[in-house]
Amino acid sequence: MPDRELNIALERESEIPLYRQLITQIRAQINGGDLPAGTRLPASRALATELGLSRISVVNAYNELRAAGYLSAHAGRGTFVARERDAPEARQQLPPAPATRQRASSIREMMRLARKKSLIDFSGGAPPSDFFPVRYLQDAINQVIERDGADALAYEAPEGYPPLRGAVRDYVRVIGINCRVEDVLITGGAQQAIDLVLQSLMRDGDTLLTADPTYLGIIDIAEARRVHIHGIPIDEDGIRIDALENAIDQLRPRLIYVMPSYQNPTGHLMPLHRRRQLVRLAARHRIPILEDEVYREFRYDGDELPPLKALDESGVVIHTNAFTKVLLPGIRIGYLVADGPYYQRLARVKQAADISTPGLNQRAIHLLLERGVLAKQLERNRLELRRRRVAALAAAQRYLPAGSQWKAPGGGLFLWVELPAVGPSAAETFIAAIARDVAFAIGALFYTGEGGRQAMRLNFGIHKPETIEEGFRRIGAVHAALVADYGDVQRRAVL
Ligand SMILES: Cc1ncc(COP(=O)(O)O)c(C=O)c1O
Repeated sequence: MPDRELNIALERESEIPLYRQLITQIRAQINGGDLPAGTRLPASRALATELGLSRISVVNAYNELRAAGYLSAHAGRGTFVARERDAPEARQQLPPAPATRQRASSIREMMRLARKKSLIDFSGGAPPSDFFPVRYLQDAINQVIERDGADALAYEAPEGYPPLRGAVRDYVRVIGINCRVEDVLITGGAQQAIDLVLQSLMRDGDTLLTADPTYLGIIDIAEARRVHIHGIPIDEDGIRIDALENAIDQLRPRLIYVMPSYQNPTGHLMPLHRRRQLVRLAARHRIPILEDEVYREFRYDGDELPPLKALDESGVVIHTNAFTKVLLPGIRIGYLVADGPYYQRLARVKQAADISTPGLNQRAIHLLLERGVLAKQLERNRLELRRRRVAALAAAQRYLPAGSQWKAPGGGLFLWVELPAVGPSAAETFIAAIARDVAFAIGALFYTGEGGRQAMRLNFGIHKPETIEEGFRRIGAVHAALVADYGDVQRRAVL
């Protein structure tokens, strides 16, 4: 079908953001038959230029229309009016993602588009790559291959390389988890550990409870595994017990997922009394808790607290952590610690998922543990990340808009900031920020439902202090310009 003229008239003085107006007008033309199925729409770049919009605004509009079934995209060929109206059953093959998730995927697309080399990027969840012990790893791999030869490259035992399982047992004993080697399952990072728990404990349509906001990865996994995810509000101590108890009564969940230490994205540390309440509640209702402790070792001040698993007398807690954030994310080694009945199911699903986690990587990590590289690395992480945190807090104080709120994180990689309630949203600020070569994660991404409109997550850990200062300065300047230009045509052209 040949290209057709799109008839778009944007009202720049309107309160309605321009990309929303674009969505409404394209949808009306499709519904009215002016744009029949198969019509190719202009490329996002061309339409953006024609309408005087940013390309991200057009991509965002196309994404939302695609998620709603109005458009379809074909790699390399372009964006077309979808044919579903001719064959409505096609749209019904998969349950539609909830509107909030469609919105989240548009935000993600927006963030993906923003990636460029010159960017000061605070948006990711990665640990700082300038810390990676690359040389130590190289030596360890060479030594493993010399020592073990082909054994290092054969299928490894499905539950993990036995000496590494032993080292994990020793490692978690120090923090109060009294487990056996047989309770340790080596996984492909914490991400796979979470996925295995959902696969082995939940069925289609079951409900999972987590804090709101929460780790984006659990939202993705829940969606992929067709599990309902329900967010529980938090207070300064973490997930609220009263709200959790209500949700347990009403929703009969199969699993609770929490990050007790330096939660992603808020950086909160759950105090001991809340940890105890949570474990007691789960034990009383016999609902397993998955505790994700990947940020536990990024502790800058305060006493070390026991993980939930160390407080668990009835075997309801499943503990996961990994050597990814603290050592090397790309090597993909993590673990689960679980009691008997859960463990058996997890081990079966693990074997079905990937037969075994790469033996070479497990052996290399084991050697790094034996040689004390992890201990050294943790010390280095702490010293340097403390400096970066100080820099981030000073820069936030100096540059972020008056009325913004944040709490100094006692650990972890993230600063969670609430922009002033009246004024540009985090998404609006983001769009303007990337034009000034700075990015952060938009808070709304981390909510299971509505929320986070004014929130942003900044990974201060990945930049040196001077870069943090410059990045925060840019964000502050961008926000101030947006506030000053409120109602100005130039700003509305961006949104
Ligand atoms: C809370 C949380 N859990 C799990 C992961 C995944 O970690 P891994 O690299 O060990 O799979 C991340 C990564 O960002 C995370 O933030």
